Amino acid sequence: MHLVNWINFPTLGDERGSLIALEAEKHIPFAIKRVYYIFNTKAGVARGFHAHKALKQVAVCVSGKCKMLLDNGHEKVEVWLDSPNKGLVLEDLTWREMHDFSEDCVLLVLASEHYDELDYIRNYEEFLKQVKT
Ligand code: TYD
Repeated sequence: MHLVNWINFPTLGDERGSLIALEAEKHIPFAIKRVYYIFNTKAGVARGFHAHKALKQVAVCVSGKCKMLLDNGHEKVEVWLDSPNKGLVLEDLTWREMHDFSEDCVLLVLASEHYDELDYIRNYEEFLKQVKT
């Protein structure tokens, strides 16, 4: 699997404006158990700096933009999340960091599991060890 996988969401709507609908197991490749959003991020703040053991997520920037760094232990790629019709797939065992949030950035994340701190790998060396096993 490639490190960077985008999902293009069909934009609905009409002369009044735009609308995007995301359906579990259709536009999103899993059953959604949790939705969260990151907003009001202060200037210069970076977030993330972790990987997950099993959690799968799709991130979509519904307003503004931010940069996402993805790292599978072999390769690192930085991409801009800057469009409400593009979802970035965040696989398990992928280190992610979010940088350069615009003031108006609202980053919506759809997750395959409920919140579980035990699923986090917050130490980069530990992440590299897990990738190798
Ligand atoms: P964290 O995942 O560390 O944020 P980020 O990776 O974006 O920098 O989460 C920040 C805090 O919020 C942490 O105390 C855990 C809590 N949290 C929840 O309670 N539920 C959730 O779904 C998420 C994503 C975080």
